[in-house]
Amino acid sequence: MKPSSKKPKALVVIGPPGSGKGTQAHLLCRKFGLKHLGSGDILRARQKKGDFTGRKLAEIMNKGGLAPSFVVVKILGDELEKIKKEPKLKGVVLDGWTRIDTEAMMADEALEWYGWNENAKVFLIKISKKESLNRLTKRRQCGNCGRLIPWVGHFKKIKKCDQCGGNLKVRIDDKIEVIKNRLEEYKKETVPAINYYKKRGKLIEINGEQPIEAVFREILGKI
Ligand code: AP5
Repeated sequence: MKPSSKKPKALVVIGPPGSGKGTQAHLLCRKFGLKHLGSGDILRARQKKGDFTGRKLAEIMNKGGLAPSFVVVKILGDELEKIKKEPKLKGVVLDGWTRIDTEAMMADEALEWYGWNENAKVFLIKISKKESLNRLTKRRQCGNCGRLIPWVGHFKKIKKCDQCGGNLKVRIDDKIEVIKNRLEEYKKETVPAINYYKKRGKLIEINGEQPIEAVFREILGKI
C-alpha cells in the first residue's frame, strides 16, 4: 500500500517529563498550521480560577501527581469544541494529554468525533531519567508570561525573560523531589498508555536525546 500523502490533522506527543514534548509540539504547529494544546499549561491556567477544582488541581500538581482523568478529559473536550469553531484551523497537536490508557482511548474517540483522526500519529519522545532530571532542574520560567527558559547556550546567562522582561523563577513542580514524583507517575501510569498505542500500531518512537533540531527532523521523517 502506498503511504498517504495527506497531511495529518492530529499529532499526539507523549513522553517523560522534560522529554521536549512542548518544544516539539510548538515546532510541529508552526510547520503544519496546527493548534497547540498543552495539557500542563491548560491545567495550570485552570488552577487560577481558584474554585474547588482549581485549588485541588494546584495541590495535586504541585506535588507531581496526576490530575484525575475526568477533569483532564472534560477540559480536553471543551478545548477541542472551542478550537473546532476556528474556520481556518487545519488540526491539532495534543501535548501530554494521554498520560494513562483511558485518556488515550478517550482522546482517540474525541479526535474521531471532531474529524481529525485520519492519519493521526502518536510520537513517544524517549529520554533517560538522568536527562529528565538534568533538564528540568536547570530550566527557569518567566513569572510574568510563563515562557520556559532552557538551560542551553546564551539562555544560561539571562536574568530576565528575553520576551517580556519578567522575573525568572523555578517552575513550582521543577523541584527535585517533585520531579522524582512526576517520573514515578510516568513509569506507573503512562506505560499502559504507551502499550495502548503500540497495540494499535500507532506509536512512533523518537530519540529525544539529540539536539532540538535533530529531534524535529526525526519526527518529520516519520510523518
Ligand atoms: P506538563 O506541564 O505537561 O509537564 P511534563 O509532562 O512533566 O513535562 P514538561 O512539560 O515539563 O516537559 P516537556 O516534555 O514538555 O519538555 P519541554 O519541551 O518543556 O504537566 C505538568 C503536570 O500537569 C503533570 O505533572 C500533571 O500533574 C498534570 N497533567 C498534565 N497532563 C495530564 C494528564 N493528561 N493527566 C493527568 N495529569 C496531567 O522541554 C524541557 C526542557 O528541556 C526545556 O528547558 C527545553 O528547552 C529543553 N529541551 C527540549 N528538548 C531538548 C533537547 N532535544 N535537548 C536539550 N534540551 C531540550
